[in-house]
Amino acid sequence: MRCVTTTVLCTLALPEPAPSLLSARAALRVLGRIAPPEELRAALAEGVDVLCPQLRDRVDGALLDAAGPRLRAVCNYAVGFDNIDVPACTERGVAVTNTPGVLTDATADCAMGLMLAAARRLCEGDGEMRAGRYKGWEPEYLLGLDLNEAVLGLVGFGRIGQAVARRALAFHMTVLYADEQGPPVPDDLAGRVRRVSFDEIVAQADVISLHTPLTPATRHLVGEDVLRRMKPTSVLVNTSRGPVVDEAALVRALREGWIAAAGLDVYEREPEMAPGLAECRTAVLAPHLGSATVKTRAAMARLCAENAVAALDGRVPPTCLNPQAWAAGPPPALPVAS
Ligand code: DGY
Repeated sequence: MRCVTTTVLCTLALPEPAPSLLSARAALRVLGRIAPPEELRAALAEGVDVLCPQLRDRVDGALLDAAGPRLRAVCNYAVGFDNIDVPACTERGVAVTNTPGVLTDATADCAMGLMLAAARRLCEGDGEMRAGRYKGWEPEYLLGLDLNEAVLGLVGFGRIGQAVARRALAFHMTVLYADEQGPPVPDDLAGRVRRVSFDEIVAQADVISLHTPLTPATRHLVGEDVLRRMKPTSVLVNTSRGPVVDEAALVRALREGWIAAAGLDVYEREPEMAPGLAECRTAVLAPHLGSATVKTRAAMARLCAENAVAALDGRVPPTCLNPQAWAAGPPPALPVAS
């Protein structure tokens, strides 16, 4: 009888404790790069029990077919999972997991950082200093927007939107939110935030911060029409997914002053930016750093590995997105790889 080694494939190396947890349970293979689809398909065809992809890896029906019935779980190293065709996984009995909760505060901090930097023109100021253009204090030099008493419109009110609300309330902002799902307002925010329509947010907010997943309904949610309806003094912050904003329209909005500024952590076609965006002085541009702290990335690594180990043990993973994939019960535990 052929002996099959229990195998986990990570496309990129994960921080500790993931390597320790995974290699104690399985043979750990690390591709070491984001491979083109055909290469990833070939790697999976060699025999993999659990795949730990990155948000840049596309997990679709073709990849799952190449992996064959041996693949039991896809454990994304991200909370967002728009890179994964979850129904295709469910159809094939493959569990999908993500990393919710552990990156909430880091991402909310990043959104606040972008909000402050864009509203107070800190990067423009940084540019002035480095270029030697600062000639001394002047009454009307680089004036920005006060966050104090400004209206914040949160689009999406899940964990991260709520964490931004808590921070914004400490800055004495008025917090409005729009969320189609209408999640329950946690006790500590009850009476301190107000649910309104997306259109009310567009019309009233001084700062709009996006915290919605990328779905067909949210792709280009903020396009030319919305940008033209925002206040000319307003700031747009995006730490969700790039395609929620029509980036070409945003470039026109910044160039022509439909809005005052933008703070972006995500882009439509990462790592590229829409032509002209880099030249927009009122855009603060971060390279997808929302969860990029040592502690948060380690917590994501732990959760990702715990999900993978649970799948190998024949247990439903702690943050499984599609438990119905294993409706007939989890598959049997696999042998520990020696
Ligand atoms: C996620 O987890 O979805 C972020 O975009 C990266 O941490």
